[in-house]
Amino acid sequence: MTDRSRVRAGDVGFEGYEPRRACSDTFDEVLARRLHRRSLLKGGALAPLFSIGSIANLKGAQGDSGLQFAAIEGSAADEIGVPKGYKWEALAAWGQPLTNSAPEFDPDDLDPEAQRQQVGYNCDFLAWFDYIHGSGIVGVNHEYTSPQLMFRNYSAERTTQREVDYEIASHGVSFFLAVPYRRDDGPGYRHYRGSAFNRRIHGETPIAISGPAAGHPLLVTSSDQSGTEVRGTFNNCGGGITPWGTYLTAEENFDQYFGNNRGVTHEMAKAANERFGVRDEGGRRQWWRFQQRFDLDYEPHEANKFGWVVEIDPYNPNLMPRKRTALGRFKHEAAATTLSRANRAVVYSGDDARFEYVYKFVSDGTYDSSSRSANRDLLDSGTLYVAKFNDDGTGEWLPLTYENGPINASSGFTSQAEVLLFARQAADLLGATQMDRPEDIEVNPLTKKVYVALTNNTRRAAGDENPPNPRAPNPMGHIVEISERGGDSGATRFDWEIFMLCGDPASEADGTFFAGFAQERVSKIANPDNLAFDKQGNLLIATDGQPRTLGINDGIFFVPTEGSERGYNRQIFSGVVGAECASVIMNSAQDLMMVSIQHPGEGGTRQQRTSSFGGSAVNRPTVVAVTRTEQPYRIGS
Ligand code: FEO
Ligand code: CA
Ligand code: CA
Repeated sequence: MTDRSRVRAGDVGFEGYEPRRACSDTFDEVLARRLHRRSLLKGGALAPLFSIGSIANLKGAQGDSGLQFAAIEGSAADEIGVPKGYKWEALAAWGQPLTNSAPEFDPDDLDPEAQRQQVGYNCDFLAWFDYIHGSGIVGVNHEYTSPQLMFRNYSAERTTQREVDYEIASHGVSFFLAVPYRRDDGPGYRHYRGSAFNRRIHGETPIAISGPAAGHPLLVTSSDQSGTEVRGTFNNCGGGITPWGTYLTAEENFDQYFGNNRGVTHEMAKAANERFGVRDEGGRRQWWRFQQRFDLDYEPHEANKFGWVVEIDPYNPNLMPRKRTALGRFKHEAAATTLSRANRAVVYSGDDARFEYVYKFVSDGTYDSSSRSANRDLLDSGTLYVAKFNDDGTGEWLPLTYENGPINASSGFTSQAEVLLFARQAADLLGATQMDRPEDIEVNPLTKKVYVALTNNTRRAAGDENPPNPRAPNPMGHIVEISERGGDSGATRFDWEIFMLCGDPASEADGTFFAGFAQERVSKIANPDNLAFDKQGNLLIATDGQPRTLGINDGIFFVPTEGSERGYNRQIFSGVVGAECASVIMNSAQDLMMVSIQHPGEGGTRQQRTSSFGGSAVNRPTVVAVTRTEQPYRIGS
């Protein structure tokens, strides 16, 4: 495919770029507010607002992030945009055969059995696992299905068993080998069909349930009297990569697959389902009419088997995936993993709903770098914490443990398993801080600082602002930076500050803030969703919602988090009409950036398309590979 890059004229390294205006009122306002808050909080003593580097940068000092690409402009065009000197290609698209025996994609015969051997729909979280000779196993999950875009003349009322079976087969996770190739126009990567690592986990794949909630009576169903197994994984959104090389995938909006919450008699389970969004009668999707396990009238415990983090070993296709209940059950957006100072596994996770919480799991056991298998069940025991952000810029991780304070029988909890099953309710009791939709979380590999993407909250009412969620309503979203005490990811106290208040810096109404960086130089951005880091500690941000908020397609942005360019946000990728950029990640050589183009053409139907992306017959959600055509080949440099 061709390089359809869009670059500002004469925009190499920003030389000659005319700032929109010499001085941003918006920035001054934010600065004033921040000064006001700091002075209030610190008894009038003005703490340093920005790093020395940031102040220097305001005066025009040279940057030190190593990022040198020429930022692209946001665009509403139905074509992918990358900087000059970059190219993109499809790496894996919905329906692409994974195995040699898998049928070719046929949009006129969407066959469930074929789909179980092909790449699933609506690609989301991406991971790269090194293999040999520069190749890697790519993990990509498939969050949900868009039947009106998939099937011709789809109607929820008239949907068929075959369509439902196809949708169930389109969920889950795909793994495939990506191999490098070299051409005159620089490196590229291709999907390798038929590798032994190529694999589908879908909505019927047997998955084990492990950890403290495994075997609990609330997980027992008619097909699983032991409460330790489940068929499939649904609504996998973000995820994570463990230090021992496994793939974590997070179950998010699983409520939509279930119907008839009226059938649930356990009081806390019923209330939890209601808060997740399960309808009392009927369901958002029609699956419950076709498979009894999705009908809570028949199978009242089935929904309890979803809302977990699933661990999968990409190097061992024979190992059964496991839902790790020790990490709690909620609308998990992600599972960002690192190690504490004591070498415990730490997993950060957001609960993506308005006014929900940020969580952290710390394992009891420690990571063993000498043996992969020794870490196999590290995520089965440990402590789950929820975050409380104090107004003074400090914060606490509150343990969600049975009989910690009010988490006891008087509030309806009788065991740790129930605390994990109903983590939101336990977190309520401890006074955790309600956030503006916590999406992905990522840990800076160099500083260990933690970045939380808060994508938006249009329901935060004026007067309900608080320092970590300072705008009401908050349509644009923001990013909070957490510094764990002592730089230890296992700490129970932290300091936090606002890293970015998103929006258009040229719009005073947006009240944007970019970690103190000169706002006239940054790319506008809204609705930060997925995050990743390069090895130099620069943050990659994928967005979900910019067509609505900024009138441009969703995209990928690169922003340094330290040094003189801290906050210097620059757009490196623009997606297509109707699509969110659901995930971004680089390979370990950093000469490949992968982006998930999810739900291209959303808003249209199979017959009436709003985007031509992905094919002539149907839009195909696609993992795209971005590489460079010029040296140096490292993305961003
Ligand atoms: Fe599936 Fe929270 O995005
Ligand atoms: Ca997401
Ligand atoms: Ca991430």
